[in-house]
Amino acid sequence: MEIITNITEDVIKKAAKALKDGNLVAFPTETVYGLGADATNETAVGRIYSVKGRPANHPLIVHISSVNQINKWAIDIPDYALKLATKFWPGPMTLILKRNKLAKNFITGGQDNVGLRVPNQLIALALLNEFELLGGLGLAAPSANRFGAISPTTSLAVHEEIGEYLDSNDLILDGSRCNIGVESTIIDCTTDIPTILRPGAITSKMIQKSLGRKITENYLSGVIKASGRLASHYSPKAKVTLNKLAEFGEGMIAMANIPTPKGAFRLASPKNIEEYANILYEALRDGDRKKLTEIKVILPEEEGLAEAIKDRITKSAQKVEQN
Ligand code: TXA
Ligand code: MG
Repeated sequence: MEIITNITEDVIKKAAKALKDGNLVAFPTETVYGLGADATNETAVGRIYSVKGRPANHPLIVHISSVNQINKWAIDIPDYALKLATKFWPGPMTLILKRNKLAKNFITGGQDNVGLRVPNQLIALALLNEFELLGGLGLAAPSANRFGAISPTTSLAVHEEIGEYLDSNDLILDGSRCNIGVESTIIDCTTDIPTILRPGAITSKMIQKSLGRKITENYLSGVIKASGRLASHYSPKAKVTLNKLAEFGEGMIAMANIPTPKGAFRLASPKNIEEYANILYEALRDGDRKKLTEIKVILPEEEGLAEAIKDRITKSAQKVEQN
């Protein structure tokens, strides 16, 4: 495995070729780093599961270069979904749609629908375009972490998470820290009324405004369609406790206006919600790097992107059935 830091056109070509040959390429997106494979190659996609240690029934998001590719992977696309795709792609939004024949069971976890996203990140888009020039149709890319762990927002974190599981022909592309820092909003578009399954930077307010109607939210209940929807997920090694002040020797993440108790390690002091999302996962990782056993997190109180932060942190605090 090679980590490439200077991403030139030649590097993009090399990475696209590696993917076409069935290798894995970890790449930055605006949300978190993805672990990419040719979404039509069953063996390559199978390697994503083994590198992540992820159960096979958890579906993968297919990343495409533009809304024009949507029909290759999905059919019976409702008008509202097309509207959302046109408005928010490229961007931090995944649409769950009825699958076309190209989306095989090894991508969808055997479900009749497929998750699609156009990322808004220069390296990711260049890679997708180059991959399509080589005849590729889409890249399966879950977050580039081991199953149940925190998503990586830097190439170093990708390396720490999965470096030892990658093969010599696999690549990690370094694109500095991800802009947004939490995973995309997932919207189930297979019913008359869209449902948010995972909150993200495209908020329910933004979606309702663009569609001019109410939508529903269902972050935790129901069948487990999305692995990020397991109650316990996004976990560092340290124990995460919510809304309590840190004690001596413990880590603490809170908005900048909340003071650090004496003897605690301040891991992050974001000044606003965007900054909170942006540094959250690295702050949790820092706690692990410092070998802290406990991290106290004061949740932000706002709505919008704060919903995504609350969702992820609540799940990292629930350390049951971890693997
Ligand atoms: O921001 C993101 O979405 C990042 C970047 C790399 O694009 N990707 C990401 O993928 O977070 P992943 O696999 O770590 O999380 C995607 C979630 C998973 O929980 C998966 O089960 C769910 O989306 N998902 C994917 N396809 C689905 C489908 N057809 N139906 C329901 N859930 C689906
Ligand atoms: Mg993930």
